[in-house]
Amino acid sequence: MKLFGKKEAQAGQLDLTRLPRHIALIMDGNGRWAKKRGLPRTAGHAAGAETFRRVATYCKTIGIEYLTVYAFSTENWQRPADEVKAIMDILEKYLQEAIETMERDRVKMKFFGDISFLSQKLRTLIAETEKISSRFDGVQVNMCVNYGGRDEIVRAAREYAEEYKATGVPLTEDLFSRYLFSAGLPDPDLIIRPSGEMRISNFLLWQSAYSEFYFTDVLWPDFNARALDRALIAYQHRDRRFGGIKEREK
Ligand code: IPE
Ligand code: IPE
Ligand code: MG
Repeated sequence: MKLFGKKEAQAGQLDLTRLPRHIALIMDGNGRWAKKRGLPRTAGHAAGAETFRRVATYCKTIGIEYLTVYAFSTENWQRPADEVKAIMDILEKYLQEAIETMERDRVKMKFFGDISFLSQKLRTLIAETEKISSRFDGVQVNMCVNYGGRDEIVRAAREYAEEYKATGVPLTEDLFSRYLFSAGLPDPDLIIRPSGEMRISNFLLWQSAYSEFYFTDVLWPDFNARALDRALIAYQHRDRRFGGIKEREK
């Protein structure tokens, strides 16, 4: 992976002092990437896992605080069983390797989604990954597996209802957000979707209220530091108003 030094980043107008705190990524396009090469879809998923490793490292290098990635949705179970199994096997292998290299990479990992549907082996690996990396600071990667934005909101509502029965505490936006997987994190500033699709596909429905969106035709396995820089430069040209007006127009 080519890392852009400060000078090159400036040449491309990326301002390293104004980076988003939280980037979310929909890792889409693995299947099409493989098809284009006459390979099985699973080869695309394996290539996509490597891309994730490189992009997460790049985010750490440039100083991104939070990276949330969509790896497997609540709807992805509809895919053929052999594809689902291949994705789970790749995740297992990824976590095994991540655990081995964790002390060196020091990337903090968390998981968003209902992991109770995953194999016992995967759940053990997830628990171990979270435990080891809880000591690290620097970039935090949230990996969304069996994640759905609607599912997240429904389970938050259920949990709140339980608390309400016990305490009668009134619901506020702030309180509700504490029941989400993203409790305590800032909302994503930038959501990137490669592969040319322009939809949210049930990702971070609550948290994306004021996120900036960036779409690119690049397929996820081809995504790299340069593609991320392009997204970041585009982000830095956005005018985020959050429903207000520009400072100078007041
Ligand atoms: C994203 O790539 C990976 C998952 C959804 C698990 P896809 O598998 O959706 O790739 P395309 O969209 O079919 O190209
Ligand atoms: C979204 O991609 C989910 C992940 C990347 C994990 P999909 O490929 O599942 O989304 P749709 O079906 O194109 O909306
Ligand atoms: Mg897809």
